Amino acid sequence: MILIMLMILVIKTATASVPGPEMDVKPGVETSLAKRTLSFCYQLKFGVTEIPSSISSNTTCLEVKQTEIVVIPQGALNNTIRQRIGVNEGLTTEFFNTCQIFHLCICVPLSFISGNVALKNIGAFAFSDLPELTEITITKSKHLTHINPDAFKDIVKLKYLTIANTGLRLFPDFTKIHSTGLLLDLHDNSHIERVPANAFKGLCTQTIPEIRLTRNGIKEVASDAFNGTKMHRLFLRGNKQLTHINPNAFVGSSELVVLDISQTALSSLPDYILGGLQKLIAESAPNLKELPPLELFTKLHQANLTYSSHCCAFHNIHRNRHWNSLCSHPDAQGNLHFYRDYCSNSTSIICTPTQDDFNPCEDIMSAVPLRVLIWIISILALLGNTVVLLVLLGSRTKLTVPRFLMCHLAFSDLCMGIYLVVIATVDMLTQGQYYNHAIDWQTGLGCSVAGFFTVFASELSVFTLTAITLERWHTITHALRLDRKLRLRHACIVMTAGWIFSAVAALLPTVGVSSYGKVSICLPMDVEFLGSQVYVVSLLLLNILAFFCVCGCYLSIYLTVRNPSSAPAHADTRVAQRMAVLIFTDFVCMAPISFFAISAALKLPLITVSDAKLLLVLFYPINSCSNPFLYAFFTRTFRRDFFLLAARFGLFKTRAQIYRTESSSCQQPAWTSPKSSHVMLYSLANALSLEGKPEF
Ligand SMILES: *[C@@H]1O[C@H](CO)[C@@H](O)[C@H](O)[C@H]1NC(C)=O
Ligand SMILES: *[C@@H]1O[C@H](CO)[C@@H](O)[C@H](O)[C@H]1NC(C)=O
Ligand SMILES: *[C@@H]1O[C@H](CO)[C@@H](O)[C@H](O)[C@H]1NC(C)=O
Ligand SMILES: *[C@@H]1O[C@H](CO)[C@@H](O)[C@H](O)[C@H]1NC(C)=O
Ligand SMILES: *[C@@H]1O[C@H](CO)[C@@H](O)[C@H](O)[C@H]1NC(C)=O
Repeated sequence: MILIMLMILVIKTATASVPGPEMDVKPGVETSLAKRTLSFCYQLKFGVTEIPSSISSNTTCLEVKQTEIVVIPQGALNNTIRQRIGVNEGLTTEFFNTCQIFHLCICVPLSFISGNVALKNIGAFAFSDLPELTEITITKSKHLTHINPDAFKDIVKLKYLTIANTGLRLFPDFTKIHSTGLLLDLHDNSHIERVPANAFKGLCTQTIPEIRLTRNGIKEVASDAFNGTKMHRLFLRGNKQLTHINPNAFVGSSELVVLDISQTALSSLPDYILGGLQKLIAESAPNLKELPPLELFTKLHQANLTYSSHCCAFHNIHRNRHWNSLCSHPDAQGNLHFYRDYCSNSTSIICTPTQDDFNPCEDIMSAVPLRVLIWIISILALLGNTVVLLVLLGSRTKLTVPRFLMCHLAFSDLCMGIYLVVIATVDMLTQGQYYNHAIDWQTGLGCSVAGFFTVFASELSVFTLTAITLERWHTITHALRLDRKLRLRHACIVMTAGWIFSAVAALLPTVGVSSYGKVSICLPMDVEFLGSQVYVVSLLLLNILAFFCVCGCYLSIYLTVRNPSSAPAHADTRVAQRMAVLIFTDFVCMAPISFFAISAALKLPLITVSDAKLLLVLFYPINSCSNPFLYAFFTRTFRRDFFLLAARFGLFKTRAQIYRTESSSCQQPAWTSPKSSHVMLYSLANALSLEGKPEF
């Protein structure tokens, strides 16, 4: 069986000069080289078994590709052969010597048949002393594992050196080439794992315009790797396992202006080179989460990065550039590089990706009032709900259904307080440089946990509020039907359902339906896919539904208690007032958020995320702050429990005594006179916690 094409070797004396040091990136350079040369080459192709004698001496290019030539016999290129003892196995040395006269040879050694020599090795002096050689391409040679350190030696006119798709294990030795200007392209060699010290030292006597080390298996760049190397552009793109560039790797190197570390696993950049860098390409480099200190980038013009938040860092960078007197010269404007470096007063850095709508260039809480407010609100929610929980749980009286529900309400509002404190704390810690922490925060565990807390809290809170209202409505409308009385058992079932629902709703974004990482405040604002959209919209609709349910219940309660003629009129208005407040706070909390959130979820955003944060800080937690007051502190039962509890710790003893005597005097069973409308009022008062004056 014929093995096809182990290797293409391009050796040529191209008239084309090596491209200058301009910044442009030429991603297609490795393929274009081959294409460019093929057009004027004498080609030996598949099926050819020996070098024909008809090649004229004025041929400047010879391509030997996918042939079955086993050996290139001496004399095949008769007029050109200079005898010389070959040292290498796979390549016939004399063949390369012909290149001196042929000016340009593209040679494929050789599809070896029947177990002759497969190309495993390029021996010493294979490319030595070929002063006319300008281009060497060694590709597609999976079995080539070793290149002798002396293989490349004194090839002073070498302009292109390409080594690709080989099985090389060690970084080839380029230190004896001593070229005068070279493009080095070493790509797709998946076994090269390390760039050693002084790897490019003798490669070139001048500045190397470009070193491409793309898509290899490089894992590490050693200390002093670029010692003694002057280079303009360095591409490390596509070395997916590259995690570490030694901080001293670039010591002794100079003139680097373009660095490409896209698609690598690097997490930091060596500070040494940043000062001269004009262009930094780090796309799809997800591990580069933190940028080096910005003041190190003194010359940067363009940055193509992975994360938009990093571009925010360059937003407000100010540089002192000195106006060069030459700038007024008409020619200066023609010379773009000079003009850009010395004359342009614009200090802006072109940076991609630009920030998206969800991640504006700002801290989590951009405005100072917001920052203060979130602390006040979060502490209020934490304190209020903690007190409520303590009093409810510490009280010795029997656990009733309303109290049971109140516990859940306080707990969910406490969770909201925790969320707010977390956000406020992260904001404080990252103040002024959120761009460098955005990725860690938004993609990290912290944001998911905070997001879980807030969705869980708000859903459980809405659910419990609805349950409390329904319970009141039920108690009042069925006040006279003891058989329909709600028991703790029922409440337990309802609240278990509530917990499960809230937990599921809060967990969904952590498993890919929407996501908490989209915005800095960790709310599920990701509506990119239909599933996420459905999730967000249905959450909001459920909340709106709950709101209408609450409204309906209060309306029904109001109509029920308005009827009894014996009910005093002022009690009536008080009930109405109280309900109005409850509904109003609920509405204020719900309406703006729901309105804007639904419009955003339907991808018709009416306000920016920055404005939405204001809404979210001011309105979203309103319920969590006000619930302790509306449902606990302002009610007489709660105050009684509070003072009784405090009395156990030796506080407010006299107040507690008053409550104790009062409560014993009105301990009349509700069923003593079932016909009386007072019973109705009593249960209403209980249900609405209306005993005593509301204090608002
Ligand atoms: C090489 O020489 C032959 C005649 O010997 C001529 O026909 C041919 O055009 C020449 N080719 C080039 C590229 O100069
Ligand atoms: C090579 O050239 C020499 C003279 O320079 C000649 O004697 C010999 O026959 C040629 N060989 C072939 C294979 O053309
Ligand atoms: C770096 O190169 C200089 C000469 O250019 C040499 O003296 C020095 O030893 C090299 N450093 C290392 C660590 O090899
Ligand atoms: C870098 O970003 C610019 C836009 O600012 C774009 O035009 C250019 O193609 C990008 N370069 C690379 C190598 O992705
Ligand atoms: C830049 O600033 C200098 C003074 O600092 C001013 O003389 C010059 O006109 C400005 N150039 C441009 C292009 O704005």
